Amino acid sequence: MSLLIKNGEIITASERYVADIYCEGEQITRIDKDIAPPPGATVIDASGKYVFPGFIDPHTHIYLPFMGTFAKDTYETGTKAALMGGTTTLIDFCIPMRNEEPLAAYDTWNAHSEGKACCDYTYHMAVTRFDDGTESQIRELVSKGLASFKIFLAYGGAFGIEDEELYKTLKLAKELGVITTAHCENATLVDALQAELIAEGKTGTKWHYYSRPPRVEAEGTNHLMTFAELIGAHVYVVHLSCDEALREAMEAKYRGVNVWVETLIQYLMLDMTYAEKPGFEGAKYVMSPPLRLKHNQEVLWNAIQHGAISTLATDHAPFDFEGQKPMGKDDFRMIPNGIPSLEDRVNLFFTHGVKGGRIDLHKFVDAASTQAAKIFGMFPRKGTIQIGSDADLVVYDPNYEGIISADTHTMNVDYNPFEGWPIQGRPHVVTVRGEVAVQEGKFVGTVGRGQFISREPTHF
Ligand code: URP
Ligand code: ZN
Ligand code: ZN
Repeated sequence: MSLLIKNGEIITASERYVADIYCEGEQITRIDKDIAPPPGATVIDASGKYVFPGFIDPHTHIYLPFMGTFAKDTYETGTKAALMGGTTTLIDFCIPMRNEEPLAAYDTWNAHSEGKACCDYTYHMAVTRFDDGTESQIRELVSKGLASFKIFLAYGGAFGIEDEELYKTLKLAKELGVITTAHCENATLVDALQAELIAEGKTGTKWHYYSRPPRVEAEGTNHLMTFAELIGAHVYVVHLSCDEALREAMEAKYRGVNVWVETLIQYLMLDMTYAEKPGFEGAKYVMSPPLRLKHNQEVLWNAIQHGAISTLATDHAPFDFEGQKPMGKDDFRMIPNGIPSLEDRVNLFFTHGVKGGRIDLHKFVDAASTQAAKIFGMFPRKGTIQIGSDADLVVYDPNYEGIISADTHTMNVDYNPFEGWPIQGRPHVVTVRGEVAVQEGKFVGTVGRGQFISREPTHF
């Protein structure tokens, strides 16, 4: 199997030049001007197009039992949707229930992914309980290639952990050189605010926001920073949504805390008015942390361009508007939290970021691909275009114009939060380790080709 991509403008986090890329087997083996097509090679004309490294989504929930239901995508539909949008590697969360064994959860996630993924994937290992029994299993899972943890300061009673467990988890992470990703909202405050709102009869969708205001997220972020600072652990704040939380993370960074920050395409594009739509429509836009006041968007964009925020993810957690979101029709606490966006992240980021003049092309690649590869131990295999890297490539048409719609999307969910939104640019061709998986908006890849990417600890 060989592939030659000719005349594209190669864009990485730091370089920009026109050249041909030749891939033999699964890797890039040559980058040069005017490479003559070897016999039998598949040749793709990339003239007038960009060639980006395959994009990486470091935060997805493809398989997720959550809030009394399951996220809708399967590994087949979710990874196909990822590829359609240019994402060639994703990091899902393997999340044991609090009473479940970590190794059992790992087996469950594998049973859902093995032989079904179309793009490459790996897992963050969630630590939802820390005792002697779980510690040995968590150590074993790191040796199996899961080089990042996840903890929840939110969702008390479900996935959330106590401070003593947080302390022990970060100590272990430090010892093993593993980075810990964290959902930073203070669970006690959320519970108290929710109870007050419900007692006042404030049960509708819009009240979700008021049960998780920015200070709740800022406190969660500060809480994590304090523990990380005292332990010397490396931490990564997932789905940061607002100015207040970013300030806590940046203040800690200036104190020397090893912290990285992720935001989501949803927070850049949508504000809290979406969750306030009349009737039950707002439920399409319920997630945690909630969509924020609009002024936060400029803060987040600037933070991406200047490097305070390293990565752009989706937290893809798809729940149908018919049949799943209505679980919370009479009580916002029961609305399954999540806004699907795996397929649209890259195109929206390009349209509003690059074409909108908010970020440059290098930052676009860095935030949507390279930083995730570096932080989570996949670089330079993933996240860049160089000899020896996996041939995960996105030949991108910057002149394409289209409209996002649930009628045409690949994600297995009955609505699209960006319904009717225009996009300017989309992948022309997407390859997964040398195989063409998407061509002109059609999936042409192979179900089961996606591989589990084993990772080594890197954050000592
Ligand atoms: O609302 C969200 N974010 N749903 C997915 C679970 C999580 O907290 O990441
Ligand atoms: Zn979360
Ligand atoms: Zn999540």
